[in-house]
Amino acid sequence: MNLPQRKFKGKFITLEGIDGAGKSTHLSWIAEQLRVHHPEVVMTREPGGTPLGEKLREVLLRQTMHPETETLLMFAARREHLDKVILPALMRGAWVVSDRFSDASFAYQGGGRGLESDKLEILEQWVQQGLQPDLTLLFDVPVAICKQRLSGNARFDRFEGEQEMFFENVRSAYLKRAARYPKRFRVIDATQSIEQVNKQLQHIITSFCL
Ligand code: TMP
Repeated sequence: MNLPQRKFKGKFITLEGIDGAGKSTHLSWIAEQLRVHHPEVVMTREPGGTPLGEKLREVLLRQTMHPETETLLMFAARREHLDKVILPALMRGAWVVSDRFSDASFAYQGGGRGLESDKLEILEQWVQQGLQPDLTLLFDVPVAICKQRLSGNARFDRFEGEQEMFFENVRSAYLKRAARYPKRFRVIDATQSIEQVNKQLQHIITSFCL
C-alpha cells in the first residue's frame, strides 16, 4: 500500500540544514508555536527517535564505516522510527516535528558522500512508501559561518568533523532539493539573529496552520 493514500489526521514537519545552521536552537520554540494550534505535538529526531534508533545514532556518529553502510543504517533507523513513532502519531492525529528526515540522507550521503541518487530513491521508496513531510524547514547558512559556530564545540562527531568541501556539497544538495520541491520546502535565512529567524518561522507556521 502506498502511504499517502491513507488519510492521516496529523501533519509531518521536518527541520533540515547543515551542522551548525542552528535548527536545534529553534526546536522548542517551534513546538510551542505549534501547540497553540494543535493539542498533541510529538518532537523527535533522526537518526534516533526510538531505542534502537538511538543506538544506531551512537554508532553512526562515532564509528568509521563505508558510505553505503552509513546509508543503510540511516534508513534502517528511519524504518523503525516510522513504525514506532511517526506513523502511529500521524494516525492518531498528532503533529510530528522531526529534527531531520530523509532529505538529510539525500544531502549528506548523496551530496556529501557522493552516493548515487537512484540508490537513495530505492531506499526511500522501500522505507517510506511514498510518505513525505508536509512541510520542511531548511535552515540555510553559508558553510564558513557554520564552521565558526561549531568551532567552540569540545568534541566533533564524525559528521561535524568533515571538511568544508563536504559541507558545501551537503548545502548545495539541500538547496537543490528545496528548488525541486518548492511546495514542501521553506528556506530560512538562518544567518540572522534568533529573533529574526523566529519571525520568519512564525510567518511560515501561522500560514501553514491556518
Ligand atoms: P544532528 O547533529 O542534527 O542531530 O544530526 C546528526 C548527524 O547525522 C548530522 O551530522 C547529519 C547526519 N545525518 C545524515 O548524514 N544522514 C541522515 O539521513 C540523517 C538523518 C542525519
